[in-house]
Amino acid sequence: MIEKIQQYLEEIENTTAKSKDELEQFRLRFISRKGVMSELFDSFKTIPNEQKKELGAKLNVLKQKAEAQFQSLIEQINDSNSKEESGSIDVTLPSFKSDGTIHPLTKTRNRIIQIFERQGFSVAEGPEIEDDFHNFTALNFPENHPAREMQDTYFITKNPDTLLRTHTSNVQIRLMEHGTPPFRSIMPGRVYRNEAISARAHCFFNQVEGLYVDKAVSFKDLKQTLYHFSKEMFGKDTQIRFRPSYFPFTEPSAEIDISCFICKGDGCKICKHTGWVEIGGSGMVDPNVLEACGIDSKEYSGFAFGMGIERITMLKYRIGDLRLFSENDLRFLKQF
Ligand code: DAH
Repeated sequence: MIEKIQQYLEEIENTTAKSKDELEQFRLRFISRKGVMSELFDSFKTIPNEQKKELGAKLNVLKQKAEAQFQSLIEQINDSNSKEESGSIDVTLPSFKSDGTIHPLTKTRNRIIQIFERQGFSVAEGPEIEDDFHNFTALNFPENHPAREMQDTYFITKNPDTLLRTHTSNVQIRLMEHGTPPFRSIMPGRVYRNEAISARAHCFFNQVEGLYVDKAVSFKDLKQTLYHFSKEMFGKDTQIRFRPSYFPFTEPSAEIDISCFICKGDGCKICKHTGWVEIGGSGMVDPNVLEACGIDSKEYSGFAFGMGIERITMLKYRIGDLRLFSENDLRFLKQF
């Protein structure tokens, strides 16, 4: 059977298709249920159990190769058809091999999304140009309250009710005001603060917000969710620690620290010799926030968290300067 698989693999690789008929022949032979695959899967059933693992893996490779080759044959045929139609080659088409790389922030963002999606979170987005209600008031920042000073805000001069969002927590409100629980979403996006630009601060950066609201959600759900996230993101030995803190929109609130995965807790420059590094804030959604969105806080509870995507990326790749993310220096970007 192994020899047969090998033989088919070679045949697949060497197949070309100049016409739709040839493509159809390939499909019938290697993709369709009646082709060679079904014959192989039938004989697979009869082989001894101890050979099944190896052969099963080989069969899967064969199946994937066949499907990949089929796709590429379709593209070849479409390409040659369009060339025939236009009579010339379209030199503006992008080349197959690109010199571009994925931006490190995009990489981190994608990985964060993947980890939370596997825990049942969906992805939500909201506006960067926001009003006072969604950025502050509904999040339990009373008007003229000193907590607003925590976030240096860019207001639009003509209309001070309009501002650039200072955090992604606005999306919590946008999500909850128009729906009914349960909500289980993460909300990545760019935020803005009126800060002097330096290696450690920038006037724009990215956060990812998390929100889970349902009946009987408790702090232990928050702990378990972030515990799992930290292990997936930073390695399975990572420990997590919650430090009491204050945010207007959560009660109780906690800062999230992870054990320093660089020195493993012994103390180094990155963790300032404490063995711990902060990755964000969290807490139980304040009942006032639920009520501001028309949700009965006696029936529902929830947790929320917010983390900096730059911060996580800097820790993960040991990047020492925030400005590198937005300077588009190819020497930096090509390393990812
Ligand atoms: N919005 C906070 C900030 O930008 C981060 C944050 C803290 C978000 C705690 C949360 C939370 O959802 O529960 O500083």
